[in-house]
Amino acid sequence: MDVFLNTLSAVPWWGYVLGFLAIVAIRDIFFQKAHTISHNYPVVGHLRYWLESIGPEMRQYFVANNREELPFNRIERGWIYASAKKENNYEGFGTDRDIYAHQHIFVKNQMMAFKTSEGHPNTEHKDFVPCAKVMGAYNKRRKPYRPASVINVSAMSFGSLSAAAVEALNKGVAKAQAFHNTGEGGLSPYHKQGGDVVFHFGTGYFGVRSSDGNFSLEKMKQLVEDNPCIKAIEIKLSQGAKPGKGGVLPGAKITKEIAEIRGVEVGKDVLSPATHKAFSNVSELMELIETIADATGLPVGIKGAIGKLDQWEELAEIMLKTGKGPDFIAVDGGEGGTGAAPPSFADHVSLPWVYGFSSLYKVFQTRNLTNRIVFIGSGKLGFPAKAAMAFAMGVDCINVAREAMMSIGCIQAQICHTNKCPAGIATQNKWRQNGISIPLKSDRLAQYFKTFRKELVEITHAAGYEHPCQFTMHDIQVNVDDMDLTRNLRTTYGYNKTLVPFQGTQELYDCAYLGGKNFD
Ligand SMILES: Cc1cc2nc3c(=O)[nH]c(=O)nc-3n(C[C@H](O)[C@H](O)[C@H](O)COP(=O)(O)O)c2cc1C
Repeated sequence: MDVFLNTLSAVPWWGYVLGFLAIVAIRDIFFQKAHTISHNYPVVGHLRYWLESIGPEMRQYFVANNREELPFNRIERGWIYASAKKENNYEGFGTDRDIYAHQHIFVKNQMMAFKTSEGHPNTEHKDFVPCAKVMGAYNKRRKPYRPASVINVSAMSFGSLSAAAVEALNKGVAKAQAFHNTGEGGLSPYHKQGGDVVFHFGTGYFGVRSSDGNFSLEKMKQLVEDNPCIKAIEIKLSQGAKPGKGGVLPGAKITKEIAEIRGVEVGKDVLSPATHKAFSNVSELMELIETIADATGLPVGIKGAIGKLDQWEELAEIMLKTGKGPDFIAVDGGEGGTGAAPPSFADHVSLPWVYGFSSLYKVFQTRNLTNRIVFIGSGKLGFPAKAAMAFAMGVDCINVAREAMMSIGCIQAQICHTNKCPAGIATQNKWRQNGISIPLKSDRLAQYFKTFRKELVEITHAAGYEHPCQFTMHDIQVNVDDMDLTRNLRTTYGYNKTLVPFQGTQELYDCAYLGGKNFD
């Protein structure tokens, strides 16, 4: 034994390293068949896989310039992080953007900015910007709802997000008087932390599902009766990242609790079907909207990504004939995010937000229907200047998903589909989500929303208006190409937004249907 130990200790340290590398080389050449590169280049071939795996982080931290990365570049992320932390979110020395670049947008400022008088709601509450329209007012729903914030949390389910993240978002919206869309996974206890809720369901009907996997009106009624925090209901037709694909929640994320809330099996991928069982054509969809609204008294809307317009035209025609219809329409852009989707869908199916929304808006505008509907836009719109453009095109509210995630600590690792989210947000791993401090992160979401609204109001005032609903297509210019240089939105998209009836912010402040709880 001593002889053996003495021999081992006589071997220099580099002898062990060489021995280890020799074993790796033998394995690479003779015992593994999966990787040609490591077979042909034993040992060094591993470097390639390792470098590839840390490539995204290296590029993000050291190589990519400030405006280069997608979906959100460093300047955009930095603005959200700083706004959420109430840190200095200003830029020094001037813009670092090429403001002559194609598609760059400009907001036209007024010679003299809008001045708030003494006693004006914005004099005291600089970030008070409620929706200028009331959901369900036109259709005389029993419980109309005016979102108290023009920026709200978009659909993201408990399942795709962790319990800690959902709770932080809900407590955050409560602090910011905004609403929280549940996403497809049903209403969990983490959604019931004081914030207004928009209950969203898709083809899986999670939370309102009958035993045969269809939609249950009884369960919907009961859910609304038991949960006064639900202020509106959204039927998901599609989302920008994967229209017509249905939902994919990887088995790795299906814990016992999620399985119970959704009525599915632990550990197995949940694929919600591509199409709805509860309706198969536009008339049936219209019937379902009315049935749910009658049964619950709540405003009912739809969410969709835009491609072909014929069925939307049919919907508008039926609205015209019947005088009924959805109380709100959420339009998601092809650039929208997702918990998990095939790249072929995320990259190519459905139109980017500006093209999708402008085409859809015209469908309703030509029939004089726009003022019946609250239009919600989503797809990287959580930045004040981009939101001003969206308001000029006709939206009444903005929904944000990934921007909200970033405000509570998402670092854009882009691995929401693996259950390995390093920030504890898009994972069901208990240890990772324990890193989320719910009181702190809910403050950050609220602060991001408040900063966003304050800057949006300031841009609005700079343009000479009182509320962003007053933006018109002539107020925003967009760079097009060398021939025209820059055009206003009216010329680019071929319509003038229908003016939203607006009597002043005070009237919104005094509205009996205003959501949120307090404004201090
Ligand atoms: C993690 C995650 C989960 C999502 N889950 C849903 C969902 O359940 N239903 C849905 O309609 N959209 C879902 N979306 C899409 C968002 O609601 C939103 O429409 C889209 O991301 C565009 O907004 P954004 O650019 O602000 O992220 C999800 C997005 C993310 C990032």
